[in-house]
Amino acid sequence: MNQFAADNDICGRADLTVVLRRFYTAAFADRRIGPFFTEIAGTDLEVHLPRITDFWERALFRTAGYGRDAFGPHAALHTARAMTAEDFGRWVQLWNAAVDGLHRGPNAERAKATGERIALALHKRLAGEDPALLRREDTRGFVPLAALELRSPA
Ligand code: HEM
Repeated sequence: MNQFAADNDICGRADLTVVLRRFYTAAFADRRIGPFFTEIAGTDLEVHLPRITDFWERALFRTAGYGRDAFGPHAALHTARAMTAEDFGRWVQLWNAAVDGLHRGPNAERAKATGERIALALHKRLAGEDPALLRREDTRGFVPLAALELRSPA
C-alpha cells in the first residue's frame, strides 16, 4: 500500500488514536520535553490518551465532546519548570513528524496547523506572565524552530 496515497488522510477517531499514540511515545522519550510528562506530571498515558483524543477529535471534526480545562495542566507544569519557546518548538516538530509519518491530506495539514497555532497560543499565554521567556521572534507569531535549539542533546 502506498503510504502517501491520496486517500490516506486522517479520517476520524481511529486514525487520531494511532497518530496520538505515536506522538506521545516519541514525546515521552524525548530528552527535551519528555520529563514534563514523565517526571513533573507523572502522566499515565492510558489515562491521557482518551482525553487528548477527545480534544483532537473535537478540534478537527467537531464530533467529540471535550469539556476539560486544557490550559490548567500547562500552567501547573510551567510553575514547576518553565516551558520555553524551544520546548514548544520541539512539541511542534514531534507532532508534525507523527502526522507526516502516517498521513497526507487536508485534515493532516489542519492537524499540523492547529498544533502549531495552539502551541504558540499556549506559549504566549504562559510566557506572557514572564516576559523574559518571550523571545523577540515570538512577536512575529512564530514558534522558533531553529534546528540547533530543537535537536535533543546527543
Ligand atoms: C512543550 C509542549 C507541551 C508539553 C510539555 C505538554 C505537556 C502536557 C502534560 C504533562 C499534560 C498533563 C497530562 C496529565 O494529565 O498527566 C498536558 C495536558 C494537555 N495537553 Fe499538553 N503539553 C504541551 C503542549 C501542548 C499542545 C501544543 C497542546 C494542543 C495542541 C496540548 C494539549 C493538551 C491537552 C488538551 C491537555 C489536557 C488533557 C486533559 O484533558 O487532561 N499540549 N500536556
